[in-house]
Amino acid sequence: MAAVGSTCMLVCLALMWPNSNLVTSSAPTPEDCVPGMFGNHGNGSAALWACRAQVALQRNWFPSPIAGLFSYQVWNGFDGFWQNGAVLETFANFMHYGNHTRYQTCLKSSLRQMYDLILAYAPAPSYDDMAWFGLSYLRIYEVLGDKDFLSLAQQIHDWNYQYGWDHTGTCGGGYWFYDKKTTITNVQMLQLSAKLYRHTGNSTFLERMKTTWKYIQKNGLIDQETFQVSNIATDNCTGNRDFNKTFNSGVLVGGLVEMTNILNDTSYLNLAHRVAQATIFYNSHQGVLVERCWPECDKDEYVYKGIFVRHLRYLMDVSDDITRKAYSDWLDGNIKSVISNAVCWPEMRSCNITYQDGPSLYNKTGPVFDLEWRGPFNISNPMVQAEVFDLLVANIAPGTTCHGTGCTYDPPVPPPRHLTCADKPCPTGQPCCEYHKSYTCCEETQKCVKGVCT
Ligand SMILES: *[C@@H]1O[C@H](CO)[C@@H](O)[C@H](O)[C@H]1NC(C)=O
Ligand SMILES: *[C@@H]1O[C@H](CO)[C@@H](O)[C@H](O)[C@H]1NC(C)=O
Ligand SMILES: *[C@@H]1O[C@H](CO)[C@@H](O)[C@H](O)[C@H]1NC(C)=O
Ligand SMILES: *[C@@H]1O[C@H](CO)[C@@H](O)[C@H](O)[C@H]1NC(C)=O
Ligand SMILES: *[C@@H]1O[C@H](CO)[C@@H](O)[C@H](O)[C@H]1NC(C)=O
Ligand SMILES: *[C@@H]1O[C@H](CO)[C@@H](O)[C@H](O)[C@H]1NC(C)=O
Ligand SMILES: *[C@@H]1O[C@H](CO)[C@@H](O)[C@H](O)[C@H]1NC(C)=O
Ligand SMILES: *[C@@H]1O[C@H](CO)[C@@H](O)[C@H](O)[C@H]1NC(C)=O
Ligand SMILES: *[C@@H]1O[C@H](CO)[C@@H](O)[C@H](O)[C@H]1NC(C)=O
Repeated sequence: MAAVGSTCMLVCLALMWPNSNLVTSSAPTPEDCVPGMFGNHGNGSAALWACRAQVALQRNWFPSPIAGLFSYQVWNGFDGFWQNGAVLETFANFMHYGNHTRYQTCLKSSLRQMYDLILAYAPAPSYDDMAWFGLSYLRIYEVLGDKDFLSLAQQIHDWNYQYGWDHTGTCGGGYWFYDKKTTITNVQMLQLSAKLYRHTGNSTFLERMKTTWKYIQKNGLIDQETFQVSNIATDNCTGNRDFNKTFNSGVLVGGLVEMTNILNDTSYLNLAHRVAQATIFYNSHQGVLVERCWPECDKDEYVYKGIFVRHLRYLMDVSDDITRKAYSDWLDGNIKSVISNAVCWPEMRSCNITYQDGPSLYNKTGPVFDLEWRGPFNISNPMVQAEVFDLLVANIAPGTTCHGTGCTYDPPVPPPRHLTCADKPCPTGQPCCEYHKSYTCCEETQKCVKGVCT
């Protein structure tokens, strides 16, 4: 999660479509998201908005300026490697909840070799970043049934366990994040182990799930009074009581939901509700979720709220009707706020999209969103777009069905292409630095000397 910048890779993109019809008044094409497409929820449904947000995500942030590295085609200019992995799960969820196969080829093309994933983060092992890919690959397996994704998720799990677990047993083990043990790495692996056990029946994963859970308990990562979740374990095997990051509780909730079924014990489900409700209670302002980093959030924090609501949906799917509706109403309030206060949709209203890593080669299409869900719209980037996409997908009504040619919209994924500095890929003020056939964008304060930013 640390890394932004250097060795980003991956995934797909969509566009290169000659026909950008959101900006014209021509008849809708399969790319377009049209009222009625997701049933009789009018044009305000979460599914329809999710559809629009996804198209905007695919169209606005391509190509990436750091696509040259490792010959990989980067997707949409995400310059956060792990966010790039984490959003794959949202693509799969949208297909599943939205009853469609949009961008299926794009999703499938995210498959990589373990070697390539490791290389992308070399030399520093980054277990949490790996686990985002593992969780997403498992979800893709669940939705598409492609066993290659299951196998890769298993390899990621094993690699994390082999190298990332504290085998000395200090504080009960735990997964490392560099030289400390963050909660996120551990709750990710809790969930990944549980899901792998559910899909394979292999008791090794069951044992690792239980061992990880013991570690989480032993280190007091969940506050017993407020059910807020600490961000890091101290050297003294206690939670550090930094409760500020919503994604910790989100991923934990996802793990607890899995444990409930595996262990046939509803106490885990009760705990999941308490953790989820604590996050909603302590992090909502006028009913809208606000990450406590606001207004000075880093790029990791751009997607935390999205990861929380993604997992809230997994909890909703095993909740009774009344509880489900309460969560759904809260999500609906967030969505209403986002689409009325925090949106920029140039085709509808004059506003500016800011591109994180230099301008798109293609004309922008809305709607795009701001990090602050209460608004107003100020600035947008692909990670924030992915976060709102998560929010919209999380509240798609159960039983939603998709109608029309748009349901199978599946653009081909262009082959990887090296960009060079000649493509002018860097933001204004940031020197482009070329080294052999790769390049990077230096910081504004740096200069490029012989292929190195200094
Ligand atoms: C929703 O549909 C109505 C009527 O079809 C239209 O006037 C309105 O602009 C639409 N709103 C959005 C946000 O698409
Ligand atoms: C959509 O839902 C119908 C049943 O309502 C189902 O038969 C169909 O397979 C679903 N399609 C997708 C792509 O999920
Ligand atoms: C169970 O999973 C572990 C870890 O991936 C693996 O080493 C072992 O071979 C698996 N066992 C079976 C029976 O597949
Ligand atoms: C661990 O506990 C000792 C003794 O109470 C204390 O001095 C130290 O600051 C603690 N370390 C951390 C990392 O909390
Ligand atoms: C789950 O637990 C309940 C209550 O303890 C019990 O009735 C049920 O048989 C258990 N189911 C399984 C599959 O173990
Ligand atoms: C948590 O967020 C609050 C602002 O909401 C801030 O005052 C506090 O310093 C943050 N704590 C940590 C450990 O970052
Ligand atoms: C968009 O940005 C341009 C250049 O900064 C500025 O002139 C224009 O007023 C902005 N438009 C809106 C609607 O904010
Ligand atoms: C973008 O829009 C402008 C003005 O609407 C148009 O002149 C230009 O050709 C468009 N560019 C592309 C790549 O579609
Ligand atoms: C808008 O975004 C710019 C660039 O990130 C930032 O400097 C500014 O403080 C933001 N304004 C508001 C009101 O959030």
